[in-house]
Amino acid sequence: MKKTQIEKIYKENAVPANIIRHMQKVSEVAELLIKKFKEAGVSLNEELIITACLVHDVMRLKEDNKSVNHALLMGAYLSRTGEDELAALVTKHHFEHIDDLENWEEKIVYYSDKRVAHDRIVSLKERFTEIGERIAYRNPELEKKVFELEQEIKNVIGPLPV
Ligand SMILES: [Fe+2]
Repeated sequence: MKKTQIEKIYKENAVPANIIRHMQKVSEVAELLIKKFKEAGVSLNEELIITACLVHDVMRLKEDNKSVNHALLMGAYLSRTGEDELAALVTKHHFEHIDDLENWEEKIVYYSDKRVAHDRIVSLKERFTEIGERIAYRNPELEKKVFELEQEIKNVIGPLPV
């Protein structure tokens, strides 16, 4: 998706500057990971990953209950505009979708988001424990799976770039 299109989405949805900064930081993490994946010989849809990172939390403030979370809201918005592939990546970035990740594109978007707290790159441990993710999302079983995802990534790319 073009930069102007992403900016239009921000405008239409009145996305606050701090959320935009968060999404940009997540895309920076993803970019570093993509580079390593490429070096490891894995081909990826880079544009799709970066776009998903840049729009994943657009509906963050629009979620009013957990059953219709911001990821689902944004996924539905993107589906309505015919962006089905992008919609899948955005829908699955939500913490609870760890078991649904099917390809590296989805895994990179998911994982990159878990490495950013607000607009700061942090370790998974920091994100889950020291910073204190919102209590509703604390789930040791799921957190363990995110660490397993990190290991899965390291098995392909070697040491993490961030
Ligand atoms: Fe996020």
